[in-house]
Amino acid sequence: MTIPADIAKDIVDPTAYADGDRVDQAFAWLRREAPLDIAQPEGFDPFWVVTRHADILEVERQNELFHNGDRATVLTTIEADRKVREMMGGSPHLVRSLVQMDNPDHFAYRKVTQGALLPQNLRALEARIREIARGFVDRMAEHGDRCDFARDVAFLYPLHVIMEVLGVPESDEPRMLKLTQELFGNADPDLNRSGKTITDAGEGVDSIQSVVMDFMMYFNAITEDRRAKPRDDLASLIANGKINGEPMGHLEAMSYYIIAATAGHDTTSSTTAGALWALAENPEQFAKVKADPSLISGLIEESIRWVTPVKHFMRTATADAELAGKKIAKGDWLFLSYPSGNRDETVFEDPFSFKVDRAPNKHLAFGYGAHICLGQHLARMEMRVLWEELLSRLDSVELDGTPTRMTANFVCGPKAVPIRFKMH
Ligand code: HEM
Repeated sequence: MTIPADIAKDIVDPTAYADGDRVDQAFAWLRREAPLDIAQPEGFDPFWVVTRHADILEVERQNELFHNGDRATVLTTIEADRKVREMMGGSPHLVRSLVQMDNPDHFAYRKVTQGALLPQNLRALEARIREIARGFVDRMAEHGDRCDFARDVAFLYPLHVIMEVLGVPESDEPRMLKLTQELFGNADPDLNRSGKTITDAGEGVDSIQSVVMDFMMYFNAITEDRRAKPRDDLASLIANGKINGEPMGHLEAMSYYIIAATAGHDTTSSTTAGALWALAENPEQFAKVKADPSLISGLIEESIRWVTPVKHFMRTATADAELAGKKIAKGDWLFLSYPSGNRDETVFEDPFSFKVDRAPNKHLAFGYGAHICLGQHLARMEMRVLWEELLSRLDSVELDGTPTRMTANFVCGPKAVPIRFKMH
């Protein structure tokens, strides 16, 4: 069957993600009635919607059968796809980062930074990250008893951490934050470059392309600097990274910086903001984790599951295949819904409740398989350090108004989390 038009619309509609309930209900319906079926929302080519935890893992596990880069890796309208291909000499991608690659390139490019982001190598950064976290907790205390936790803490702390790891000076952080929000918030008039709702696909692509160009100009200068004077940072690894003995391609290097400078904080920021929102709404969960700091790792996993800041990635079948009893044809496009997998009733008991002691918690918010999030250890570590510092000083927290979410369907989360709190 084809997924009913109203459900198909909610899957792609950025305002459904801003609403929260609307998108949750659409996916709950799909998991129950049509867990793997074809959607064809207006303006899009048809695609399979993969909603169940097990099916998402099954696709991600088979990275030769289901490619990242053969078609657009992120949901794109027919019109936007046409425009991107026109601009990029036939390629469906404006950038070529790890997420747009398949083997053998993917493996070779991933190796350039993978080691630096492993837990054993990140350990050396923990003391510095704790210092940064303490600074943000102090700044929160300076707000008195009220703040917008998203704007004042959650958007800034992971930004500072990744920019230090990457090697971007602190004075450029506001620019990086603005560019990231313009990129992921392209459908949100509060965040995008034009300040209005973009309805024309061509205009949407132009708007993203202009942000990408600004990022590239910025990182081009960093590349030159790090080639001349390498330092102990991620930018130096990328600038001097070799692929089969040759320097990395220009588009690939620029895209590498862009993914680290965007996915490297927006995701963690959304998760942190969403965690505090959930704790403010569930005082018994706040009390539980305050009373037992060994639950902080549970709080982190649950907040990543709860927010699931990456809403989807697309895959393309490289051959005819069978999945969950359905026949997938070579060239078919598949939409992997991470938020849906993370609310799958057959895997998570009471999936719409926020539980800091949820165990097991096999969420798939970091993806799975060859493309599993490269920054997952950094994300977990920086969140753990922040919560250790914050919970030891935060005595109480409640919402001080209604939080809002970004209008977007790819990488997104809370936009504002107004709170009232007591700290010592
Ligand atoms: C890939 C989620 C933080 C860098 C991904 C993917 C997801 C994801 C779902 C795609 C995985 C797949 O296709 O199977 C998240 C979440 C984060 C987070 C939920 C925080 C809570 C970070 C951080 C970095 C980062 C801090 C910084 C280095 C990347 C990169 C990739 C990636 C480079 C591409 C990996 C590849 O295709 O091989 N992330 N991410 N992420 N993430 Fe993250």
